[in-house]
Amino acid sequence: MQDLDLIVREAEAAFAAINDPDALEQVKARYLGKSGQITELLKGLGKLPPEEKKTAGAAINQAKVAVEAALNTRREDIRRAALEARLAEEALDVTLPGRGEGRGGLHPVTRTLERIETLFRSIGFSVADGPEIEEDFFNFTALNTPEEHPARSMHDTFYLLDEQGKVAENVLLRTHTSPIQARYMQAHVAKYAGQASMPEIRIIAPGRVYRVDSDATHSPMFHQVEGLWVGEDVSFADLKGVIADFLKSFFETDDLQVRFRPSFFPFTEPSAEIDVAFMSGALKGRWLEIAGCGMVHPNVLAHAGIDAERYTGFAFGFGPDRLTMLRYGVNDLRLFFEGDLRFLRQFV
Ligand code: FA5
Ligand code: MG
Repeated sequence: MQDLDLIVREAEAAFAAINDPDALEQVKARYLGKSGQITELLKGLGKLPPEEKKTAGAAINQAKVAVEAALNTRREDIRRAALEARLAEEALDVTLPGRGEGRGGLHPVTRTLERIETLFRSIGFSVADGPEIEEDFFNFTALNTPEEHPARSMHDTFYLLDEQGKVAENVLLRTHTSPIQARYMQAHVAKYAGQASMPEIRIIAPGRVYRVDSDATHSPMFHQVEGLWVGEDVSFADLKGVIADFLKSFFETDDLQVRFRPSFFPFTEPSAEIDVAFMSGALKGRWLEIAGCGMVHPNVLAHAGIDAERYTGFAFGFGPDRLTMLRYGVNDLRLFFEGDLRFLRQFV
């Protein structure tokens, strides 16, 4: 049985040359598979005379056991080598300090928005909203802003492109939150249509707005909080009272000067801008415009289907980013939107 020893040595050499578990199984078939060399020898036993069968059978089985043993040893070697390679690659330095939990915090402007909502809810306002991609109609027309008004100029507004790459008609990124006034009034009127009187409207509407603006007090994306109170006896005195109380509560200080500066908006009459200045602190003596406001223009009420003889109202539009600057003594509002964590972490 010379060739049995040869087969075993060949098999051992073939297994030793292989490093891959799948390839090893293929080579195994050459010896132990259905028509492998050892298997063929076993099949041939039947043709031997009975007295030879026993010794030949025993010898072939011995060779089979030897091939199987060589195979198992090689399998185990390959497995261990793979494991060692993986362990070396994934080595952990357990002496490194841990990373800790990256706990987040609210953005300072978000804090301001939440504070504004809380304060206005406490005096009976509810919170409304509207789309950032707004119809030209609600952004301008419904707000008594005619076609030729300079605020509608391409230089002041971000327009959207249609599928052909042309300026889309009738839609734009809203330039203020005032369109929510128009939307809300229209829906309110529809809701109470046919009734003898309609309940008061008392809402604020926070949101993002967009303009072609950029300097220390202007960002191309910024926030506004619209306010609207419409009822049977709402006056400019109410507007001043609400704003003054709000500012005192918001800043928690009396060390604050507020002035209503006469101004113009197509959708209010009379109109004013509200400026504030602190009498001490980092921004001492610096007047900053924080809102526009006024009595809702009769044309705007009429556009929404509200009887301007019977109802009056005031509206305002705050710049909460500027309120945040003042509250924390930050001198450039664009810092809020650069996403620099070193800056933002200071407010958490
Ligand atoms: C308006 O946008 C009017 N819709 C406000 C209004 C509402 C008037 C209701 C009457 C009735 P104005 O353009 O002034 O007004 O903007 C309002 C406030 O937003 C400003 O006082 C300022 O605080 C803030 N603001 C304006 N532009 C920017 C900007 N680019 N970045 C940051 N804040 C801004
Ligand atoms: Mg203004």
